[in-house]
Amino acid sequence: MKKLNIAIVGLGNIGSYLFKYLIKNKMILAKKNNCIPNVIYLSAKNKNRKRKIKFNKKMFLNNYLDATKKEDIDLIVELIGGAEGPAKKLVFKALKNKKHVVTANKALIAKYGDQLSKIAEKNRVNLEFEASVCGGVPIIRSLKEGLIANKINKVFGIFNGTSNYILSSMEKENKSFNEVLHKAKKLGYAESNPKSDLNGEDVAAKLKILTSLCFNSFLNKNIHVEGIKEIDKDDINYAKKLGYKIKLLGYTELIGKHIYQRVHPTLIKNSSHVASIDGVLNAVIIDGIPVGKSIIQGEGAGPAATTSALISDISSILRGNIKFPFSISNKERKNLNFKQISGRSFSAYLRFEVVDKPGVLSNIAQIFSKNNVSIKRLVQDPNKNKGSSSIIIITHPSKDSSLNRIINIINNRSYVKKKSKLIRIDDN
Ligand SMILES: NC(=O)c1ccc[n+]([C@@H]2O[C@H](COP(=O)([O-])OP(=O)(O)OC[C@H]3O[C@@H](n4cnc5c(N)ncnc54)[C@H](OP(=O)(O)O)[C@@H]3O)[C@@H](O)[C@H]2O)c1
Repeated sequence: MKKLNIAIVGLGNIGSYLFKYLIKNKMILAKKNNCIPNVIYLSAKNKNRKRKIKFNKKMFLNNYLDATKKEDIDLIVELIGGAEGPAKKLVFKALKNKKHVVTANKALIAKYGDQLSKIAEKNRVNLEFEASVCGGVPIIRSLKEGLIANKINKVFGIFNGTSNYILSSMEKENKSFNEVLHKAKKLGYAESNPKSDLNGEDVAAKLKILTSLCFNSFLNKNIHVEGIKEIDKDDINYAKKLGYKIKLLGYTELIGKHIYQRVHPTLIKNSSHVASIDGVLNAVIIDGIPVGKSIIQGEGAGPAATTSALISDISSILRGNIKFPFSISNKERKNLNFKQISGRSFSAYLRFEVVDKPGVLSNIAQIFSKNNVSIKRLVQDPNKNKGSSSIIIITHPSKDSSLNRIINIINNRSYVKKKSKLIRIDDN
């Protein structure tokens, strides 16, 4: 049987798990793919670090870049991480030296995916990155293969387990953002520095990759990104009373001739499928023609789920054939027109914390009317002890720019006690 010689570079959480998996399942993978996955080299930063894996010391490459030069290596699995530095050097050099590459690195692919895919295509090698988006949820291979027949109009969902855990725990346990974040770190659901999970950047990187695959476009930086840090317990509770949950959702959608990419906290109806996805799970909904709506959900991170995705990529290379990294040739990919969301319409939840005195509500209503935003529901929740009142307004679909203008105008009024909130609603 044919063999494919593999080097794994990066032996942290993911790299060590993948190595153990490949050793244990070598023969079954060989039978399924008619080619033996043969790990012959390993590398990481610190040669002397105590690791959970056992291997022959001769396999360890002192200089990780040697993996790109060795004649006997066919495939390099990059598991270092980060868009710059060693991961970038390794992947560029590997592809230039005609090695296949498998990576779990969303930051690298979201930033340099176009350049990398051009080198891969020119040198007729594979560049696969299933594990870079939603770990064990096979969304990339689904778009590239299982759903190849479809014209995709929209992909949306929960792409970040940490933020989903935080929002669903705030709702279930009625706890504050900081209390829940502390617990998430203790349980290992949030990293010690969870910045990119909480500010939406992690979802944005994944979404850029999916957008390119859905619309045969080059990667595009025009994406609206908001995180979950501003969401407080009161928002969660008011949303609940109104029949919604708050989720950090990512959307890529084609409306008319325009593509919108956006990541923001969203009110979604309690009865919807996405609202039922709690904890660290991810869920992706794909809307295409002729298939209609498909949903894939599962573990979005962690060594086991990520290894499942890496093995899918490695198997694809074991089976042979050179595939285009972004589904079609770079010559066929387009620079499409991506629109700012300011011109798109949304229903929205707006919350104002104001001084409880006559005239405030009518002033707010006037500002809505002057900006052509019509009110669908209004809840007033006075707090007699504090002399304040929470005003929650649900709007009919309105231009995003008008909704933001209202927030800015009202924030400047003397009766406002706290920064006002705007959370878009998913009407579907
Ligand atoms: N963790 C997850 O749940 C998850 C899920 C999906 C995707 N990913 C992606 O998978 C990749 C790996 O993540 P991870 O959690 O396994 O990270 P990790 O535990 O921090 O491991 C990183 C590895 O890279 C090695 N490394 C760092 N600098 C290096 C250098 N200059 N030269 C050679 N090796 C170097 C480290 O070596 P030492 O061991 O010697 O320090 C370590 O083995 C990242 O791209 C991440 O975004 C992770």
